[in-house]
Amino acid sequence: MTSSLIKLTLTEAAHKRRTFRALEPKSTVPDSTIVKLAEDAILTVPSAFDSQTTRLTVLFGDDHKKLWSITADALLAKIGEERWLGGTKDRIANFANAYGTILFWDDEAPASAMNQNAPDIYKDKTYEWVHQSNGMHQFYLWTALEALGLGANLQHYNPLIDAHVQKTWNVPETWKLKAQLVFGTPKEGPPLPAKAQKLPVDERLQVFGAKI
Ligand SMILES: Cc1cc2nc3c(=O)[nH]c(=O)nc-3n(C[C@H](O)[C@H](O)[C@H](O)COP(=O)(O)O)c2cc1C
Repeated sequence: MTSSLIKLTLTEAAHKRRTFRALEPKSTVPDSTIVKLAEDAILTVPSAFDSQTTRLTVLFGDDHKKLWSITADALLAKIGEERWLGGTKDRIANFANAYGTILFWDDEAPASAMNQNAPDIYKDKTYEWVHQSNGMHQFYLWTALEALGLGANLQHYNPLIDAHVQKTWNVPETWKLKAQLVFGTPKEGPPLPAKAQKLPVDERLQVFGAKI
């Protein structure tokens, strides 16, 4: 990771990372630090056959607000005024009132090249690997933002907004939108409740042969 602004180790940040929806339109770090994090994710996160299929778009300021205005218009047209006013409007306004959004894309051009070039035994798996690498980028940045004292939540308004977003920010046609990570400074308030674990850890984790 990038800078002296990072105050947590990776495991500390992973522990603290949560879904923060109550965010302020403020940042704990300069925008350049967040851009550098996105560069680091692109340069370091692994991908199958080193195919490097993930793409990112980082939106700040008016561009961040524009994303959520595009999403608002698309949702209102899709779900109608009654459902829009019944909670969706406030949810989208809340995202708009955060500090920024990172868009995660898969680029179909290298993804299909990987599939064509892969040995036959892997051909039915390569697209799954593309998604897995995208998810690694998402976790890297969600956790790294936490390490910078920011908070984030992960949203999925694709594919509803794809065409408008691609036109607005001149995004190549081969990029397919996968997720939107909204970030900002967590609002003051009581801490989030601890995560409710659906099964005890020993029913979800197997370990054999460890010297414990
Ligand atoms: C693949 C994935 C998809 C998710 N999609 C959404 C989403 O569309 N909207 C949302 O508000 N949260 C979404 N989340 C956040 C989860 O609901 C959240 O991570 C989970 O409830 C655990 O809470 P925590 O993030 O505080 O640990 C998603 C998380 C993951 C990993």
